[in-house]
Amino acid sequence: MTEDTATALFFELFSGLPRQGPGDAAGTLRALSLVPDVGAGTRVLDVGCGSGMQTRVLARNSPARIVAIDIHPPFVDELNREARRLGLADRVEGRVADMRRLDFADASFDLIWCEGAIYIAGVEASFRDWRRLLVRDGHVAFTEVCWTKPDPPAECVSFWNREYPAIRDAAALLTAIDACGYETVGHFMLPRSAWWDDYYRPLERNVKAFRKRYRGRPEAQELADQTQREIDVWKAYSDYYGYAFFVARAR
Ligand SMILES: C[S@@+](CC[C@H](N)C(=O)[O-])C[C@H]1O[C@@H](n2cnc3c(N)ncnc32)[C@H](O)[C@@H]1O
Repeated sequence: MTEDTATALFFELFSGLPRQGPGDAAGTLRALSLVPDVGAGTRVLDVGCGSGMQTRVLARNSPARIVAIDIHPPFVDELNREARRLGLADRVEGRVADMRRLDFADASFDLIWCEGAIYIAGVEASFRDWRRLLVRDGHVAFTEVCWTKPDPPAECVSFWNREYPAIRDAAALLTAIDACGYETVGHFMLPRSAWWDDYYRPLERNVKAFRKRYRGRPEAQELADQTQREIDVWKAYSDYYGYAFFVARAR
């Protein structure tokens, strides 16, 4: 299978979802409330925005101007379409870009938002890259998976060691934020419903339909297996890990 086919299958499986990772509007709003003085002059960069669920929540609940970037053009198209439909297009602009190569000018943003995407470049590398994009005392708000209980079962540990070995607990993330030169303003865990309602539940439906559509295609069945496995691990072990929101200010 070529890389292009694999990528196309992946994005097909993840298409049509309300969002592309765990999260909910209440979490976005709670994190937003931790950022001081968000006004009409506030410039926000939403990194790994997907189809823009959190972008719309931010835009509808603040007067800020938002540039939202994602590597997958159809997500960006959907975000821009929705922004136009909701009358937000004068303040919300989706652009196709790679978060590993952000070429905005220095100090372009007051706030960098990143729900469910910091893991792609990694927390430390992202914090380093974002620093020059932020104004002095600029803020970052991001979500990241973390352990919530000690001694997770071996099956759960081996799943995460394979999928994302950088997973750590919230205390270790707070230490990392500090070591990167940022001061944490607040942090909180997202509820289980933030994984299920707008993400795993519709994704599980997609997996079933995808399996039928690609009967006899081993590479597609393997992708469906992997995705279902992630959901099953979460169903069995979600007491041991969760998604946390962090809001931090550059020192
Ligand atoms: C887990 S999803 C989160 C999407 C959205 N923020 C949400 O919470 O629904 C991660 C997103 O990162 C995007 N992505 C993956 N690699 C990227 C990269 N190198 N640069 C920018 N976006 C990327 C994916 O297309 C996807 O939309």
